[in-house]
Amino acid sequence: MESFDLIVVGAGPGGYVLALDAARKGLSCALIEERPTLGGTCLNVGCIPSKALLESSQLFHRLQNDGTHHGIEATELSINLDAMMARKDEVVKRLTTGIDALMKKRQVEVIHGTGHLVEPGVVTVQSQQKRTLQAPKIVLATGSLPVEIPILPFDGKRIVDSTQALSFTKVPKRLAVVGGGAVGLELGSVWSRLGSQVTILEALDRIVPSADEDASKALSKSLQSQGITIRTGCRVLGSQVHSRGVKLALEEQEKKEELAVDCVLVAVGRIPNTASVLGTLDQQITMDGKKIAVNASMETSVPGIYAIGDLIHGPMLAHKAEEDALILSAHLSGETTPPWGGPLPAVVYTHPELAWVGSTEHELQKQGRPFKVAKFPFAANGRALAQGEHEGFVKLLSSPEDERLLGACILGPGASELIAEVVSVMAFGGCAEDIAFTVHAHPTLSETLREAALEQAGRPLHRG
Ligand code: NAI
Repeated sequence: MESFDLIVVGAGPGGYVLALDAARKGLSCALIEERPTLGGTCLNVGCIPSKALLESSQLFHRLQNDGTHHGIEATELSINLDAMMARKDEVVKRLTTGIDALMKKRQVEVIHGTGHLVEPGVVTVQSQQKRTLQAPKIVLATGSLPVEIPILPFDGKRIVDSTQALSFTKVPKRLAVVGGGAVGLELGSVWSRLGSQVTILEALDRIVPSADEDASKALSKSLQSQGITIRTGCRVLGSQVHSRGVKLALEEQEKKEELAVDCVLVAVGRIPNTASVLGTLDQQITMDGKKIAVNASMETSVPGIYAIGDLIHGPMLAHKAEEDALILSAHLSGETTPPWGGPLPAVVYTHPELAWVGSTEHELQKQGRPFKVAKFPFAANGRALAQGEHEGFVKLLSSPEDERLLGACILGPGASELIAEVVSVMAFGGCAEDIAFTVHAHPTLSETLREAALEQAGRPLHRG
């Protein structure tokens, strides 16, 4: 039996970050990963490849639609999908091999194969040969898998999940996307920009239901103006796959109808990937619904076994998994006050981008918590207009009692980057004034945040 200080099962942004940080502190560490490459869903078939395709497709879309406006006549544009996919694969390869190199440098023992718990402190790895490893601390970080719904069983060709929709070999003529969350809107945008006729089918009454309502409505309008059809309050009742496509039976406001498409992307959420890793401890590890129950130190009901990321409570986001990993690493090495934590930002990488942090107006209203709102539009920002971007706004929510920021939502260019400023201010318990009284370079998109903050602080500037 091989012995380590720490065994981590799963090498996504939770598991590999934990291994890296623990190894930095001198722990001997084994990292078990089923995939041939490190980085998990995020790097291999999630965040990174989708961003690569979003970038390529947006470049194509902009040249096609905005070129003339900028005085650029780009005629006869066409897509080489193979080259686009090869670029995406290259970006992924660079990152996954980079993580491999880091592991070697920090002397983490990377083992490719499927890990199973066999008893507290012991994991077996099934690959070409079976290996048995032991450690006083074992961390489960096996992430999540796309949810499959019985009326839309994945077949990898006509009815696909997000992984398969990142690798279509040709642009589907008509694509239905079931689910108007982050995956559906991002991949729907990619294929729409590349020429697909995309229909988003969302069961609830608006897309990105967890985000600010104004932003969700404005994003919906913008995506529709880009040619995407969005149907909300729409349920899929059944599907029929045939040689040339899929026929979906839909119900919208009690009206039944059919939709014929070439492919269906099902993007209705993810479930924790616990099936194989729990092994023979399946019955001993307490669950919290489909997630693994953990205490404040991320320890499961079996002492010495921990879980992080998508497996436990909280949003299923790569940066949340990474944060869990850093907090757990601090706990495991006995650091009393881990320096991490703070509000978690969420981003949908559409065009315009949507980013938010903290509470929404709706959530505060439900809690009966008083708040004040300040809003500033990108249409009044010089840099945004110079970039040809006039959609969206910044919205800040603050407490009228102590002025602390309670939440923020940004719909607009660069929202994914801009939100970081609010996250920092909120992490340190700051107010809109902290943003308002900070110099922001001119001309930048970040001035929209300062303008909203000035308004919140009762000193509106570029507002009538
Ligand atoms: P999601 O939970 O974000 O969105 C799923 C959507 O599908 C919801 O709007 C829901 O109302 C709808 N829905 C559920 N069942 C439905 C049905 N039967 N018919 C029609 N609509 C239905 O899940 P998504 O987009 O699959 O993403 C999975 C996870 O990955 C999420 O936790 C998400 O936050 C994360 N993710 C994050 C990204 C980012 O940070 N940019 C990108 C991609 C995924």
